[in-house]
Amino acid sequence: MDVNGRFITFEGGEGVGKSTQAKLLAEKLVTLKQKVNLTREPGGCEIGEKVREILKSNSRSIDPICELFLLFAARRDHFINLITPWLKEGYFVICDRFYDSSLIYQGLLKNVSIEDIMKLKQITIGNFDPDLTIVLDVSTDISIQRLITRHLVHDEYDQMSRQKHDIIRNGFQKIADIFSFRSVLINAEGSEKSVFKKIWKAFEKRIGI
Ligand code: TMP
Repeated sequence: MDVNGRFITFEGGEGVGKSTQAKLLAEKLVTLKQKVNLTREPGGCEIGEKVREILKSNSRSIDPICELFLLFAARRDHFINLITPWLKEGYFVICDRFYDSSLIYQGLLKNVSIEDIMKLKQITIGNFDPDLTIVLDVSTDISIQRLITRHLVHDEYDQMSRQKHDIIRNGFQKIADIFSFRSVLINAEGSEKSVFKKIWKAFEKRIGI
């Protein structure tokens, strides 16, 4: 498939501002008269949104392999029925999280083998990869503070959660390093506007329109 460098993903831990920045990029491209679709994982398609509900509900903990299969099943549906057709129609597709998140959350955090995740990646999307992955990075303190402000966690955030944040942050930094041919690590601690400026600069350099 000729994707023409139009598939852009945003990655990073919770509270780094992915969704806000993905939206800003989509809006900027629209003002430049580009065709854009903004989507997310898990989500985007019906199966993905259902998987998102399952993952976000705290009713019971799910076995990591089971979680991985759910995510990749949803990813396959998203890939075949939305991402690929959109790219073929010449849209920029901006996706809030993609398979790098599986490497971090199911792999590093929940100890599923990275090799197995990559096998599943191959089965699901083959050699397809993002053309640009914007990895947003903020300190664990800032990320927790932002989640508290958004009432997503409580003040009594425990040490265990802090360690998890550190694992996630370090993991995404590694992703940006290992996949540097398609990734850029952006310090996202500043204002929305200043962070977006850096993202736009990276976009213009790596992708352009
Ligand atoms: P968020 O995108 O709103 O932060 O929430 C999505 C949650 O799903 C987040 O906790 C990360 C998790 N997730 C995985 O565990 N694996 C994945 O492959 C993806 C895409 C998300």
